[in-house]
Amino acid sequence: MTRLSVNINKVALIRNARGSNYPDLIQVAKDCERFGAEGITVHPRPDERHVTYKDIPLLKDIVTTEFNIEGNPNEKFLKMVLDNKPDQCTLVPDAPDALTSDAGWNTIKNEKFLKKTIKRLQNEGIRVSIFIDPIPEMIHGAQKVGTDRIEFYTGPFAHDFHQNKENSIQPYIDNAILAHELGLGINAGHDLNLENLTYFKKSIPNLLEVSIGHALITDALYFGLHNTIQMYLQQLK
Ligand code: PXP
Repeated sequence: MTRLSVNINKVALIRNARGSNYPDLIQVAKDCERFGAEGITVHPRPDERHVTYKDIPLLKDIVTTEFNIEGNPNEKFLKMVLDNKPDQCTLVPDAPDALTSDAGWNTIKNEKFLKKTIKRLQNEGIRVSIFIDPIPEMIHGAQKVGTDRIEFYTGPFAHDFHQNKENSIQPYIDNAILAHELGLGINAGHDLNLENLTYFKKSIPNLLEVSIGHALITDALYFGLHNTIQMYLQQLK
């Protein structure tokens, strides 16, 4: 079974545009779960343009499925994660001013830092996933640093999908097999949408979770949140 975790950053972005509490992020998170989402993901960035640090404890209180917090593990971020104890923390090496995440960890260069950080989180009962490109050396490095799961950065897959489906998926298939053999759980995210999700899901064995934000919230403008979540769930069956 592949869990659908809805990334609600874009909902917070709309709320923040007017400085009021509309749309109400907490209500949207509750509704996503009511409509079938199997997890809620947030990615508080340093400038807090989407989900803010203040939102986190409020979300922690109401999420009943799986709460996943993503981000670059600086001290401020780590303190917030340790204070709020989500089910899962996804570590992402994004620059403070990044428009969006655009690369996975170099697990060899960052071995010492990742090992120490992952242990700190796991000691508090938080499952850890690290954002990663489908490169064998990085997958071996991921096992070495002790992460529970990896999250494949699927941006390049989504980008190349329309030109050549088979080529775009192959590195993910090869590295998913490797990761599974090494005992790593497999998540995926970035630029997944209603056009490419079924193909990704069907091609990747043992895919535990996808986190989807931008396309899902955009689709909800046309189809409504309830219908949209059901459409994504259908693709994961
Ligand atoms: N995974 C990570 C690490 C991300 O940074 C993002 C975007 O915030 C996503 C998944 C979801 O990507 P998208 O918004 O394109 O669905």
